[in-house]
Amino acid sequence: MVDMSVNLAGVALRNPVMAAAGTCGYVAELADVLDPARLGAIVTKSITREPREGHPPWRVVEVERGMLNAVGLANVGLDRFLAEKLPAAATVDTVIIASIAGNCIDDYVQVAAAFDKSEHLPAVELNVSCPNTDDGLQFAEHPESLRSLLKEILPVLSQTKMIVKLSPNVGDIVTMARAAIDGGADALTLINTVSAMAIDVRTRKPRLSHGAGGLSGPAIHPIAVRMVHEVYHAVSREAGVPLIGLGGVMTWQDAAELILAGASAVGMGTALFVDPQSPIAVVKGLTKWVQQQGCSSVTELVGQVDNT
Ligand SMILES: Cc1cc2nc3c(=O)[nH]c(=O)nc-3n(C[C@H](O)[C@H](O)[C@H](O)COP(=O)(O)O)c2cc1C
Repeated sequence: MVDMSVNLAGVALRNPVMAAAGTCGYVAELADVLDPARLGAIVTKSITREPREGHPPWRVVEVERGMLNAVGLANVGLDRFLAEKLPAAATVDTVIIASIAGNCIDDYVQVAAAFDKSEHLPAVELNVSCPNTDDGLQFAEHPESLRSLLKEILPVLSQTKMIVKLSPNVGDIVTMARAAIDGGADALTLINTVSAMAIDVRTRKPRLSHGAGGLSGPAIHPIAVRMVHEVYHAVSREAGVPLIGLGGVMTWQDAAELILAGASAVGMGTALFVDPQSPIAVVKGLTKWVQQQGCSSVTELVGQVDNT
């Protein structure tokens, strides 16, 4: 019998497989198609202080080996999330992590402070791939911006762990990971979507109403593996900060790769659109793999890629 449980910065997950932000609504929707008790955790779509309509259609399109989206953070806003969505999510038998997004530092702080009061949210995940309207800079792309954001959020999280989700749209992911860890991150998620664009050659218009968007799915998997590997070896292992590897995981082999690269847990997003039950097969496959590797716990394989 192998032990598939994971201690993610003090949050106990029954297995390392998580459903990724923005791909399973406010949690309860996923429970219609997949037994949440089979997952380690579910991350909500990003919640903002005020409700957001998001971008007009098309906001999600299929491309070769992936999906392109520019949803524009459509969500019901903090008040309705707390009143309607969180109580429904709390009935689900798995760990719930709430994702937060905002336009300025104060937006994040207000939402984080409200989430910290909830007994149902052991951790929040900060979606920092948002421009700060105060200076126009993306928090995820500038180490100083990220540090100033985290410095303000950390004090309002008295009981809730702070997970920081990094963007791959940077020249040096290690610098951003270091900034997040210096800023007090308890865990890092990597990666968010890769900036990309698709054009309809018949109409000569971008396929997404927003123009550019974020690429997800198998096309970005090797980028995620490289970034997890780099961050694990350069900074997170030594700092004792666990990584959640995310990007194009469709099969247990994809998840195993991220674990060997250094991820303690693994997220699945685009795969849920293809087959909402796929995380169950991934957990099963990983369990067999751990056994075949002669290990008694999945944690023994974290970062164990042979670099020689
Ligand atoms: C339709 C869609 C909506 C998303 N919405 C969010 C979101 O609200 N917040 C967030 O942090 N990431 C969001 N993401 C990014 C995913 O959480 C994930 O980082 C990315 O899709 C890569 O994983 P995948 O290849 O397994 O999908 C979204 C992705 C997709 C496809």
